[in-house]
Amino acid sequence: MYKDESTRKPITVTTLAKMKRNREKFAVLTAYDASFATLLEAAGVEVLLVGDSLGMVIQGQRTTVPVTLEDMIYHTRLVARGCHSALLMTDMPFASYATVGQAVDNAARLMQEGGAQMVKLEGGSWLVETVRQLSRNGIPVCAHLGLLPQSVHKLGGYRVQGREEAAARQIIDEALALQEVGADIALVECIPAELGARLSEALTIPVIGIGAGPDCDAQVLVSYDMLGITPGRRPKFSKDFLVGHDSLHAAVEAYVRAVKSGEFPGPEHCLA
Ligand code: KIV
Repeated sequence: MYKDESTRKPITVTTLAKMKRNREKFAVLTAYDASFATLLEAAGVEVLLVGDSLGMVIQGQRTTVPVTLEDMIYHTRLVARGCHSALLMTDMPFASYATVGQAVDNAARLMQEGGAQMVKLEGGSWLVETVRQLSRNGIPVCAHLGLLPQSVHKLGGYRVQGREEAAARQIIDEALALQEVGADIALVECIPAELGARLSEALTIPVIGIGAGPDCDAQVLVSYDMLGITPGRRPKFSKDFLVGHDSLHAAVEAYVRAVKSGEFPGPEHCLA
């Protein structure tokens, strides 16, 4: 059994904004069910992400594209039952925010039926009006930039983004535009470490990185990758924290410590 987290002070968007101001890093992991939510929270993870990566790690799909809104509501509800103090962020799945109206309706369902406290959307400046309206409706938003896994078929594969200066500048400008209209957090995936540092410096909102170098304000990993559960080759930017630890709890605590101290990600996990 784990420590009772139901009395820990809840983590909110305000907590995370303050942590950024104080240059205090925070740890994020994906969770898909109540048991994992309890485990991750007890080990000190500040934000639980119900990622649409559940398409791959739970459902055995090849991409996140087949994941539906009903799937996300179901898993968010499970995680919410084990989550008492961490902030609960949920992915809006593929094509569930194609129009502003759809985005508001579906985000509301994730919050009302699932218990999400923040929604995450993949995209850049085309989401400006959507993020503005979500924000006006009291819906906290995380803007996911860089590599956008829901666009894998359009991108032709999973590739590092923002390598050229023009592409790097575009990611920064789009993140600034989304911050301007109310995004509370940015999450950036698979970009050169140097761009992760520039982005975190440019934005006043916290920047969560995955494959984005050590200078982001926070780090996220897919929990099944960092516990060695995912079969096959682990992404370069991830690390198996179970190695050298004798329990899941100890492994997750080690991840939280390594993120907070800046020890993870190391140079071997960075993309160029
Ligand atoms: O779905 C997910 O797990 C994610 C992470 C890769 C950040 O979006």
